[in-house]
Amino acid sequence: SNRIMLGPLVAAIDQGTSSTRFLVFNAKTAELLSHHQVEIKQSFPKEGWVEEDPKEILQSVYECMDRTCEKLTQLNIDISNIKAIGVTNQRETTLVWDKETGEPLYNAIVWLDLRTQSTVERLINKTPGKNKNHLKTGLPISTYFSAVKLRWLMDNVEKVHEAVLSHRAMFGTVDSWLIWCLTGGKKGGVHCTDVTNCLGDQSAALVGQMCFKDGQAKNTYGTGCFLLKNVGTKPVMSDHGLLTTVAYKLGRDKPACYALEGSVAIAGAVVRWLKDNLGIIQTSTELEKLAADVGTSYGCYFVPAFSGLYAPYWEPSARGIICGLTQFTNRSHLAFAALEAVCFQTREILDAMNQDSGIHLSQLQVDGGMTSNRLLMQLQADILCIPVVKPSMPETTALGAAMAAGAAEGVSVWSLNPEDLTEVTSEKFEPQINPEESELRYARWKKAVQRAMNWET
Ligand code: G3P
Repeated sequence: SNRIMLGPLVAAIDQGTSSTRFLVFNAKTAELLSHHQVEIKQSFPKEGWVEEDPKEILQSVYECMDRTCEKLTQLNIDISNIKAIGVTNQRETTLVWDKETGEPLYNAIVWLDLRTQSTVERLINKTPGKNKNHLKTGLPISTYFSAVKLRWLMDNVEKVHEAVLSHRAMFGTVDSWLIWCLTGGKKGGVHCTDVTNCLGDQSAALVGQMCFKDGQAKNTYGTGCFLLKNVGTKPVMSDHGLLTTVAYKLGRDKPACYALEGSVAIAGAVVRWLKDNLGIIQTSTELEKLAADVGTSYGCYFVPAFSGLYAPYWEPSARGIICGLTQFTNRSHLAFAALEAVCFQTREILDAMNQDSGIHLSQLQVDGGMTSNRLLMQLQADILCIPVVKPSMPETTALGAAMAAGAAEGVSVWSLNPEDLTEVTSEKFEPQINPEESELRYARWKKAVQRAMNWET
C-alpha cells in the first residue's frame, strides 16, 4: 500500500486526572498526526476522598495507544516510525503495588484527596511558629503532596503495611507505575521517575510552550490550574504562597531549571461537578453557551474550594461556597460564576508571582483543555487586565513530553537550545473591560474567599 513517508515520529502518554491520552507527532515539524483520549473514573468513597483505579489507568493507556495506532495505520502512516514515547502525568497521585505479583495494593490516592488533613495539621503544629511553609523543600505542608498519602497507606492499609515489612512494596507516582508496567512489570520492570515526577504534566506544558527563558510563564487549565514561571538554574523561594519546584532537567549533563508554581486545585473539575453533581449541563461544552446566554454572574460568586484552597492560601479547612444569590439568580449565572472562579484563582496566583518577583508579566501564555472555551479566555484577559495568548496547538503538555523524549533519543529536530526556538502563538485575547470594573469584581471575589476560609475549624 501507499505508506506515507514522514520520517521519525515521537509520541506521548499524557495521563491526567480526568483523562488519558496518547498522541503522536511528526518529530521534524511537531505536527499532531493522531491521538486518542479516554476518560478516567474517579471514586469518592468518603467525603473529601478521591481515588482512581491503577489498573483502569493502565488499561486506558493501552486502549489509547491501540486506537491511535489503528488511526495512524488507516492514514497509511507506518507506526514503526515511532522512535520515542514520553510519559507525562498527573503529579502527586500516589500508588503502592506489589513487585512480585504486580498487583496494586490500594487505589491510587489522587492529589486532590483530603484524607490526610489531620496528619497535615499535626505536622504544622509541630513546626516552630506553626509555620506551614517548609523552607527545605520549597513546598508547604499540605494534603496535596505524596509523602502524607504514603504515610496514610502504610498506617491504614494492612496489605501495604505487610508488603513494606516483606520488602515487596513499590511506591510511585503515576509515571513510575506506568513505566514499571510498560517495561515488563513483575518480570523486571524499570522503577524510576525524574526530578519533576518524570516530565510531570505541568513541567511538560512549560517545555511544550517553550518557556525556556528565565521569567517566561504558562498557565494550564486542566482538572486544576497550574501557573509555572521559569526562574532559571537557582531555586527562588516565595514569600507569597507559591511553590518552589524543579521545572525540568533535560539531559544527564544539563543543569536543573527551577520554577515558581501557583497551584489551583479546582478548574476543569468545577465543570465536571456542575455536570455530574448538579446536572445543570449534559456535556462540558454546554457550559460556555449557558454562561454566554447571560454574560454576567449577576453578583453571584462561586468559590470551588472542594479540596480546601491551594495557592496562595494553603488552607485545607476551606470549603466551597456560592454567595451573592438573589431570586433572580439562575443556572446561567452560576455557570458564569464558575468560569469566573477559574479566572479569579488565576489572578490570585499571578498577583503572588508578580509580588514575589517585582516584575509584572505583560501577557499570559495559556494551554489545556479549558482553553477551547473562548468565553473563559476573554474573561481571563478581562480579570487579569493583560492579554492572554493561546498557542495554535493546544496539546502542549503532550508536545513537551514527546519533544523531550525525542531529544533524548536524538530523533527530534527540536533542539532544546533556547536560542533556536521561536515562540509559536495563535490567538490573543485582549482585555475588554476597564480596570476599575475588573478590580471591583476581584475585590468581591476576595470577600467570598474569606467566607470560604476556615469553614471546618
Ligand atoms: O499536580 C497535579 C497536576 O499535575 C494535575 O494536572 O492536568 O490533571 O489537572 P491535571
